[in-house]
Amino acid sequence: MTFSLPLPAQTAQEEFLRHIFVRDQMAEWSKHPLIMEKADGVLYWDIHGKRYLDGIAGIYTVAVGHNNRRVIDAIRQQLDVLHFSPPMHGTNPVAVQLANLLAEVSPPGLSAVKFECGGSEVNEAAIKLARQYHRLTGNPGKYKVLSRYLSWHGSTMGALAASGLKGRKTVNEPLPGGFVKVFPPTCFRCPFGKQYPSCDITCATLVDSVIEMEDPSTVAAIMVEPIGHTGGIIDPPEEYLPLLRKICDKHNILLIFDEVITGFGRTGQMFAAQTFGVTPDVICTGKGMSGGFVPLSAMICQQSIADTFWGPIEENPGFVEGHTWEGGPVACAVGIAMIREILDHDLLGNCRRQGARLRAGYEALAKKYPVIGDIRGKGLFQSIEFCKNVATKEQFPAKPGFGVRVGRRALEHGLLCRFDPHWIALGPALNVTAEQIDEMLAVLDRSMGEILNEGA
Ligand SMILES: Cc1ncc(COP(=O)(O)O)c(C=O)c1O
Repeated sequence: MTFSLPLPAQTAQEEFLRHIFVRDQMAEWSKHPLIMEKADGVLYWDIHGKRYLDGIAGIYTVAVGHNNRRVIDAIRQQLDVLHFSPPMHGTNPVAVQLANLLAEVSPPGLSAVKFECGGSEVNEAAIKLARQYHRLTGNPGKYKVLSRYLSWHGSTMGALAASGLKGRKTVNEPLPGGFVKVFPPTCFRCPFGKQYPSCDITCATLVDSVIEMEDPSTVAAIMVEPIGHTGGIIDPPEEYLPLLRKICDKHNILLIFDEVITGFGRTGQMFAAQTFGVTPDVICTGKGMSGGFVPLSAMICQQSIADTFWGPIEENPGFVEGHTWEGGPVACAVGIAMIREILDHDLLGNCRRQGARLRAGYEALAKKYPVIGDIRGKGLFQSIEFCKNVATKEQFPAKPGFGVRVGRRALEHGLLCRFDPHWIALGPALNVTAEQIDEMLAVLDRSMGEILNEGA
């Protein structure tokens, strides 16, 4: 089925689009609405037939490309057998199979799975798990969640309260209590004015002090993205996550990795926990888990934690958390197909190889244009941060923002990337080719050159 706007006139078009909320600022968006009609591999075509390179895999979701036949076939086959099973009475064989597969590909010990539909839901589940776990193990006073400024854990009220982006929080305040923020490891702009490695990883050691000040007997969990996304791809120094692990062990606090973006291969291993060699108590994953075909996410926790929920019914209610769509058979069939596609085609290896190519391309751009102050990230999850003056790290004016101008120009030239006033990121599908990486870099090159020529 093709979709077309009924009337060409601008005012009529704006009127036609008044019946849908999109995530952009709607009045601005409706002036030049981007409406995709079809896609294949790493390419989209909009309703006017214009071709776009998908440099961010939908939104870090389309992990094995658009129109993947194996996943589509898995959906079709599952629809013919069982499309829904009763979530309040039991589960289905596909969900059990996916849970077992996830236990195989997750870091050691992480082998109990709760399915959800999206990243926000799965982070909510992890917060509830932490609180209920402490209650069941004799520490009912442990309820606070430590998380970081600049983080994004989702739009639902608990996940939003854990998030650290004022631009997305303030309008929704007041948010639920019990959330404490610490500064993230933004080494390029250290919040403590220090330099790595002489900083002694203050951003991590201070977490310990914050817990002491809060009272460790009240802290249930620390929730972090192993590599933060919002804030410009915050890739921590190698000591950072091991230090958080130690601090959590010292105070009997659960370490939760929000791997909604970094999970399912994006950093070159199935989970960023494996890339960093740090095993959390809980991994929350979503986005790439379903390749964007259906809503699907999973909370994967240590078996020892899950075991505490197995006590006798008189004293143990089980895990009090659930949703109508959790563990649906069609979604789980997609999850299984995704794991097989990633493993059978060595997409983790491809992610590492193309990630190295992307890094080299960014470095070449930094040599050509003296406005790239920092390059960050791992695998197919990497950003560049722009500076007006690289030596002093002075930023371009935030409005409209050099990164936004470059990102918008890249869109005009047919490339979707993630852009903010001061940074740009690429995160294409794990099966992206070298030629496609080169084409994405070429569009960025052209876009940056044009904006600089026009006067930044
Ligand atoms: C790291 C991270 N966690 C959680 C979420 C929320 O996921 P969802 O939008 O699927 O609810 C996002 C979404 O962008 C995310 O990037």
